[in-house]
Amino acid sequence: MTKALYTGSFDPLTNGHMNIIERAARLYDELTVGIIENPHKLALFTLEEREEMMRETLKDFDNVKVDHFSGLLANYVNENKFDVVVRGLRATMDFEYEIQMAQMNARLFDSSVETVFLMTDPKYSFISSSVVKEVHQLGGCIDGLVPDSILDYIKRSAK
Ligand code: PNS
Repeated sequence: MTKALYTGSFDPLTNGHMNIIERAARLYDELTVGIIENPHKLALFTLEEREEMMRETLKDFDNVKVDHFSGLLANYVNENKFDVVVRGLRATMDFEYEIQMAQMNARLFDSSVETVFLMTDPKYSFISSSVVKEVHQLGGCIDGLVPDSILDYIKRSAK
């Protein structure tokens, strides 16, 4: 059984993330979405809110689990015996950061853990949590950029 991990801040979860989750869930037996708790990053949503939104949005995916972690990604991977870490890659803007992280993690992972990159669907290549957050906070429309469940949550919590 191949256990895969997809990590991120997911503040908020976007349709770009959803596309990667759907594809990774088809590729691997079990996919864990690991939400990072980063106390140094100013977040729109608390970890608890992000986790609640994620569970609600992914409730119909039979082989997808939701979890959170803090500290080194490699420690979380080694402790939970994941086989694969999935990352989404948009344009060249992601590449430099991602290759550095993948190569550093390769030193820290227990043997045979691979970082696998899925190229973003071009429909979503301009979407990032930061841009979605900024547009929303400045009163712009984010319909179609995040799952409807997230939109409902944002509207309910009036963030
Ligand atoms: O949503 P993001 O910001 O793209 O997620 C980045 C994330 C969480 C994958 C990355 O920041 C991370 O792995 N952080 C954990 C700390 C860590 O392991 N740092 C060393 C990376 S080589």
